[in-house]
Amino acid sequence: MGSVSSTFPNWLPQDFLDEFWQRRPLLIRQALPGYCPPLDGDELAGLACEENVESRIVLEKNGQHPWQVLHGPFQEQDFTRLPATHWTLLVQDVDKHDADVAALLKYFRFIPDWRIDDIMISYAAPGGSVGPHTDQYDVFLLQASGRRRWMIDSSCRSQRLMDGLDLRILAEFDPDREWLLEPGDLLYLPPGVPHHGIAEDPCMTISIGFRAPTDNELLSAVIGRHLEQHEERFHTDPGLPCQQRASEIHPHALSALRSLVTEAMQIDDTTMNRYLCEWLSETKPGIVITEPEEPLDYEPFIRRLQHEGLVRALGIRVLCARQNDTWHLYIDGETFPDVDASIIDRIDKGLLLDAAHCPPDAGELLYRLYRRGYYVFSTT
Ligand code: SIN
Ligand code: CO
Repeated sequence: MGSVSSTFPNWLPQDFLDEFWQRRPLLIRQALPGYCPPLDGDELAGLACEENVESRIVLEKNGQHPWQVLHGPFQEQDFTRLPATHWTLLVQDVDKHDADVAALLKYFRFIPDWRIDDIMISYAAPGGSVGPHTDQYDVFLLQASGRRRWMIDSSCRSQRLMDGLDLRILAEFDPDREWLLEPGDLLYLPPGVPHHGIAEDPCMTISIGFRAPTDNELLSAVIGRHLEQHEERFHTDPGLPCQQRASEIHPHALSALRSLVTEAMQIDDTTMNRYLCEWLSETKPGIVITEPEEPLDYEPFIRRLQHEGLVRALGIRVLCARQNDTWHLYIDGETFPDVDASIIDRIDKGLLLDAAHCPPDAGELLYRLYRRGYYVFSTT
């Protein structure tokens, strides 16, 4: 992934963050003037035929029932059987499979990487849409090719869903804003804004979707990790009083059990930070990280590093955090502690990791990144 940041012309990220992010929708006409998508509808369909790629086709009409959803992986014939209008192909996590698509993320790095979920790409026949709906996450909708008419209900009036459908479609949708998006136009929507985009022509839309962990997710991530590390203690009750009813869980017992739980849940800030960072860096389920089949031994690896650099493998999340002026790197749920700030900088910018630009003692870290399949030689 080329992670170096870029901004949209005539546009200040801080203004956007102050006024719009998580607050209200914004249409940016020609955010990317003359935008040309890195793949076409056929190539997207090709991706949707691959085993480890999540995709679906929404058939508003001419399916077995209205708004039928078919799930991939598809076969080539599935596409030849589609009606002329009113269908959409949606492919999830395209940034994890296509480096050119991943490169689009450089425009969105005014939002921290850990908030990014995926790039989803849809290709729709004329009239195609996924119906009026709301999403629980922030999204930038980049019109990539063709034209799509977007309608939104900025007052977020009704969220009631239609019954008995494969899709979560709003029962009532009363839009108060409408725009026709052309290639290069970008629509930002915060969570919870009802929206409906209908393809005017065959059209491609690229959704840059964000993630916002819920408290339940965080709790289960933290507790899950804590359980692995925590030293288990048994309840003890010396001096147990003789009770009148053996079936009673006595208040004393409950108090002792509560203490056992609350004491077990003591997690210091440093440890909790690590649990959170590790969890946030986990690779999305279904995305496969491939370790090198015949890895180089350490010495030949270091020699190769003299004339060739390492680049980030597609699909992984690479995050870092600082604790008392020490940088830690987190990839796929793993901590790489005490990393030199100059390496963190190069990693953040998506620059080549090679002998010329990394401190001499970085060899071991780079070798671990290579062995895990997180970083690969640039010509691999
Ligand atoms: C689409 O690309 O058709 C739908 C995207 C969305 O509404 O989130
Ligand atoms: Co949506």
